[in-house]
Amino acid sequence: MSTLLHLDASARPRSISRELSAAFADTWRVRHPDGRYHYRDLAAEPVPFIGEAWTQLCDAVLALPSTDPERLGELVRTPEQAAAWEVVEPLLAELLAADVILIGTPMYNYSIPASLKAWLDQVTFPRMSLGHRRFVVTSARGGAYSPGAPKAAYDYQERFLRDFFAGHFGVSDTVFVHAELANSRQDPALAHLRAEHDRSHAHALATARDLAREY
Ligand SMILES: Cc1cc2nc3c(=O)[nH]c(=O)nc-3n(C[C@H](O)[C@H](O)[C@H](O)COP(=O)(O)O)c2cc1C
Repeated sequence: MSTLLHLDASARPRSISRELSAAFADTWRVRHPDGRYHYRDLAAEPVPFIGEAWTQLCDAVLALPSTDPERLGELVRTPEQAAAWEVVEPLLAELLAADVILIGTPMYNYSIPASLKAWLDQVTFPRMSLGHRRFVVTSARGGAYSPGAPKAAYDYQERFLRDFFAGHFGVSDTVFVHAELANSRQDPALAHLRAEHDRSHAHALATARDLAREY
């Protein structure tokens, strides 16, 4: 039985990255009627930023020869660390239980929203491998960042997530599905790019559904 963890991070309740992640999740759930599905809306119910007690837990992990994420709770020594662990524990349990991690995220300021970064900070400990898990990122961005686009080098959203999952979690095959040029919906100066956005959006929706049939 497979387990899907579905995260959304857009500050907009009606959003393109949410629409794309829902397309993947809906298709996946039809394909896996017995599968387990967990949903977390990181924008509607933000996880707190890490604090000092969290860093103490992290330091305790660093002092060990290896990391067993299932046993990090045993490192708790103070009431403050216990409170920090109360936040981490369910987030980490959801992540470790998942076979597929689906993240719907907008590009904010060339990167990811703080709500998603806060989740990543909470669940990431030194030497933590998520090797056999698969990550899918559905994203929306106001501009265009595909290879060849003038701003391609500014894409710290895909680059950060790809490098982070590979470098820290040992997951090298993260798949990205982008809908580009979303600002053409609102910005009259970009109205001439609306048809290109519509194509990108439609292609991303179809890709998200096709991809889910393989997971
Ligand atoms: C706070 C904020 C920052 C943004 N920064 C960028 C950016 O750096 N580059 C870009 O192409 N679009 C940027 N956008 C546009 C969003 O990526 C675009 O609206 C996208 O559709 C958001 O995804 P969503 O529809 O899932 O909310 C930004 C939007 C917001 C609200």
